Formats: sequence, structure tokens, C-alpha cells
Amino acid sequence: MAPKHQAPRGTRDLLPADTALWRWAEDAARGVLGRYGFGELRTPLFEDYELFARTSGESSDVVQKEMYRFKDLGDRDLALRPEFTAGVLRAYLEQGLGGRSRVHRLWSTGPVFRYGRPQKGRYRQFHQLNCELIGSPAPGADAEMITLFVDLYEAWGFSDLTVLVNSVGQPASRRAYGERLREWLAPVHDRLSADSKARLTTNPLRVLDTKDTGDHALFAELGNMPRLLDVLDADDRAHWDAVLAGLEAAGVKYEIDHGLVRGLDYYTRTAFEVHDRSLGAQSALGGGGRYDGLVEMLGGPPTPGVGFAIGLDRALLVIEERGFKAPAGDSVCIVAMDGTRAAATALARELRREFAVECDVESRGFGAQMKAAGKSGARFLVIMGEEEWQRGEVALKDSKSGTQETLAPSALAEALRVKTRATGETA
Ligand code: HAM
Repeated sequence: MAPKHQAPRGTRDLLPADTALWRWAEDAARGVLGRYGFGELRTPLFEDYELFARTSGESSDVVQKEMYRFKDLGDRDLALRPEFTAGVLRAYLEQGLGGRSRVHRLWSTGPVFRYGRPQKGRYRQFHQLNCELIGSPAPGADAEMITLFVDLYEAWGFSDLTVLVNSVGQPASRRAYGERLREWLAPVHDRLSADSKARLTTNPLRVLDTKDTGDHALFAELGNMPRLLDVLDADDRAHWDAVLAGLEAAGVKYEIDHGLVRGLDYYTRTAFEVHDRSLGAQSALGGGGRYDGLVEMLGGPPTPGVGFAIGLDRALLVIEERGFKAPAGDSVCIVAMDGTRAAATALARELRREFAVECDVESRGFGAQMKAAGKSGARFLVIMGEEEWQRGEVALKDSKSGTQETLAPSALAEALRVKTRATGETA
């Protein structure tokens, strides 16, 4: 019989076999973020609708068709967060962080929500790892963030990433570029997709973000696409050159992508993304950029910032497809007899302060417990035979080294500690 309820379209359950990989990835990321001096910020899952509408841009897909907008019982106009940046900056202003120190490095992780058409690598509830460096206008900040971005993927075993970079300039240069795009596309205007035609009037840059293959064929037919980098003013140009020099100094592999414009409207100057072709159409593993006008847009003082978000679902899909297995811990399985069951319960509790321990709770026979221990994949087996227990002994079997020894229960924890330390693994 089919179950009465199913998870809403575009959402999924992560089972223990999945969450082991997620935890491993999150732990690895936490390590990198700590070493880069980032502090964790947790913001609400929902905020005022207006916060997102104002920051993402009227013509962005997020605002046009992807927001989970709702009224609560107090008639407040709210939305589930479609991204982190707006909420992080709202918190930055509301909590007065700007007054406490000039530069803030903040990271966050958790679910985000966008109402899109679900497919491989695209969900309605997905997860991001988000990082923001708020308060520095310097190109060194952009270069450091892109380096961190790449280092996070490297910590997950991606070794061959090339980050795509572009400069989207400032509003004035973008307007000039929009005009150039319109002129360039004029000869094929009638053949563009309806979406692109609409974007050409509201926000011409968005046209470059089209997923329509017909549009891409037209771009190829026209050739010589105008380049944003050609319309940058002198300051933006100097910033751009310094960012690239910073990436070279850090040894980060990059490629300039003149068509890279990003899906949200708040970016200024540097924009960047990484892709993995194995994901098909939804190939962006993560992206970000500089957003120097955003804090002001939220009513704060002029405050520059640069950040990025990594799509965890997509990154982990690629890690899984490459056959990665999260390293298994060294767990312990206790096998007891009738006369030692009570003692086993106490010993399990004691050992669980440090180690992962399984212990029978169904009063099963010795054979059934041994079978379960074999299946569990536990590295250590602690056998509590009645006679041995009377003598003040238990047997410890280590399936990794193939050894078995007899020792006092009080010596067990230290023996496990030594063995797990020797292999450099933790339980
Ligand atoms: P974004 O490019 O919209 O940027 O999203 C970042 C990443 O989230 C994407 O590259 C992708 O991996 C993942 N993603 C987006 N939509 C979905 C989806 N429906 N299902 C699965 N994964 C998805 C931002 O959100 C900006 N707030 C990043 C940023 C931070 N810029 C500055 N600071």
C-alpha cells in the first residue's frame, strides 16, 4: 500500500547513510572556515518578504517566480529565505556589528527555498554553505574569498576546479553595457525567446543568463559578444586587475568568462562561479561576488562586501558520484551472556562517553549477537563471557589487526584509546 503522505515535491529525506557524508563535508568545511578566521552566524529561516524582494532584484527569477511567500496568522508578509546574503546583512545592521569592528567574516549553513522545477541537482528545499566578508572594499578581500571558495571544494577532494570570473562593473557601466547588448542583439531580436525579449527591456544583462538553447545558438550566430570588461571605468578596471593578480599570487586557477552575470541583481565588480559538467543543466556548484551597494540599499551606511554560497546538495551529489565514502569510525560492539547483561549495560554507558558503542537491547542469544556484530561493521568486539567476568576479565577483539586479548574491564577504555590513536582515527 502506498503511504498516505509523501515529501513535498522538490524536497527529500536524507537518511543516515546520506547524513554521514553531509556531516563529514560540514566538519571538513568548519575546519577550513575556522582557519580562515570565519565565525558562524545563524539567522532565521524566514524574513520579511520585502527584504528579499528589495535585494535580489525585481527582474531576478528568485523574485519573479521562486519565492515561498506567505502570510502568517498576524497577517505579516513573510518569505522562506531563498538565499542567505540578505538575512546576513539584515542581522549585521540590526545587531550593530559594523560598529564593533571594521571587517566581519561570517559563515552560515542550512536550508534555503526556491520554487523551481525540480530536476537532478535542483530542489525546492536545498542547502547552502554561505560566506560573507563584510567591510572591506579591497581587491585582496575578493581574492581571499575566491581562494577560500576553492579551498572548501579542495577539502572535499575536488582537485581540478577552475573558477570562472568576470567583472559586472557598477550600475553606470552596466547600463552602458546593456545598451551595447541591445544593439548587438537587434538583428535577431524577433527570434529570441520570450523570456529574453522581456529581460532585454527590464534588465539586459539577464539575457546572458538564459538557459534557452535557441538563444545560445543566436549568440553564437552573431559572434563577437560585447564584453563587460570593455566598458569598465578606470577604478573598476584597476580593482579587476588587482583581483586577478591576487588569485595568481595565491595560485588559484581561474578562467575569465565574459558571459558570467549571476542570477541575483546585487553584484558589483567581481562575480565568480564554479561548475561541474557532470550535473548537466544545473551545473553551478556555487557562486558569489562583490555587493558594494547592498548594505546601503537596506538603509545602512556605505559598507562594501563580498561573499559566495556553495550549493551543498550539488557538491555532495558530485562527491557521491565520484564514489567517495565518508570514513567509517572505529565503533565497538559489546556481546554479553545472560549473567553479564546488566554489567554490559553499565559498561556500554561508560564507553559511550568516548566511543561509538552498540549493545544488544533485546536479550538475544550469544549467536544472534555475534551475527549482528559481524553485520554492524564494528571494528572492536568486546565479549563478556560469564566465567571471564567472574574472574574480572573481558575479551577484546580488534578486527583491523586480527588480534584478541583478555583484559580487566577498567583497562578497556585506555586500550581502545591507544588502538584508535595508533591508526589516527576516532570512534
Ligand atoms: P546563487 O548562485 O543563487 O547565489 O546560489 C548559490 C548556489 O546554490 C548555486 O551555485 C547552486 O549550487 C545552489 N543552488 C541554487 N539553486 C538551487 C536549487 N534550486 N537546488 C539546489 N541547489 C541550488 C546565492 O545564493 C548568493 N546569495 C551567493 C552569495 C553570497 N553572493 C554573495 N554572497
